[in-house]
Amino acid sequence: MLQLADSAALREFVRNQKKLGKTIGFVPTMGYLHEGHASLFKKAAETSDVVIASSFVNPTQFVENDDYDNYPKDNKRDVRLAESCGVNVLFLPEVETIYPNEQQVTVKVNDKTDVLCGKSRPGHFDGVATVLTKLFTIVEPNYVYFGMKDAQQVAIVHSLIKSFHFPITLIACPIIRETDGLAKSSRNVRLLPNERREAPELYKGLQVGSEKIRNGERNFDQIIASVRRYYELHVQLGVIDYIEVLNYPELTRVKDKMYGRIIIAIAVRYSNARLIDNVTIDCGHDESEA
Ligand code: PAF
Repeated sequence: MLQLADSAALREFVRNQKKLGKTIGFVPTMGYLHEGHASLFKKAAETSDVVIASSFVNPTQFVENDDYDNYPKDNKRDVRLAESCGVNVLFLPEVETIYPNEQQVTVKVNDKTDVLCGKSRPGHFDGVATVLTKLFTIVEPNYVYFGMKDAQQVAIVHSLIKSFHFPITLIACPIIRETDGLAKSSRNVRLLPNERREAPELYKGLQVGSEKIRNGERNFDQIIASVRRYYELHVQLGVIDYIEVLNYPELTRVKDKMYGRIIIAIAVRYSNARLIDNVTIDCGHDESEA
């Protein structure tokens, strides 16, 4: 596996591969890789000729400085994991490479940011869209792979690709979980032992909602009330940031009755980590409109 820190060298590599008729799959990450990333690398290796991953802790998407300063890092382990999952090139740029001048031009996301993490972390998705615009421009991938754990990010990256006419296909990959249901995340290592024991409740609460939908419930108030009640009873250490039920991928409010694809999403703050999780469910179509 090739390791590159220089954007010009990466561009040249990509252009040579394209001349050979190869397709480029790209997995952007912030490092501290886990099985969630591994699943993206493997999917990329199955569906693209050449797999490029980036590991870059992007300062502009952090709202709390603390979180940026304490973001876990383990480059050696990342290199081993990426290589073992079929990554051909690992791009490890310095901050100065990605941001050569003081944020003279940035990307602003105007839609889908007034809910979920966009609401509680204002400016976060501007940072994500800015760094991805830079990375997509450097890498020129045919396919990009994102995990559904950050479903709002997936929806916004779709809009970014469409808005800027990037000739890129986005492949959204399922959430990878620990055996007790906790969604894999680089931030899980920052949970205290008793918080780690509580954290699987996040997914269980989402399952209460999806179970109700599967059993035929379509009333928004009923669903959200049952999920809220579950968390009131089972989440004591974490502070709930949001519990939302929205249309997906539009991220618009659900009217009283739910149809089409919806998302139930939660974010919880623990002492040193903020965790997010979600489930997406197809509620079928409105029979009365058939
Ligand atoms: O999901 C992430 O890890 C980051 O938001 C991303 C897409 C790598 C951009 O920095």
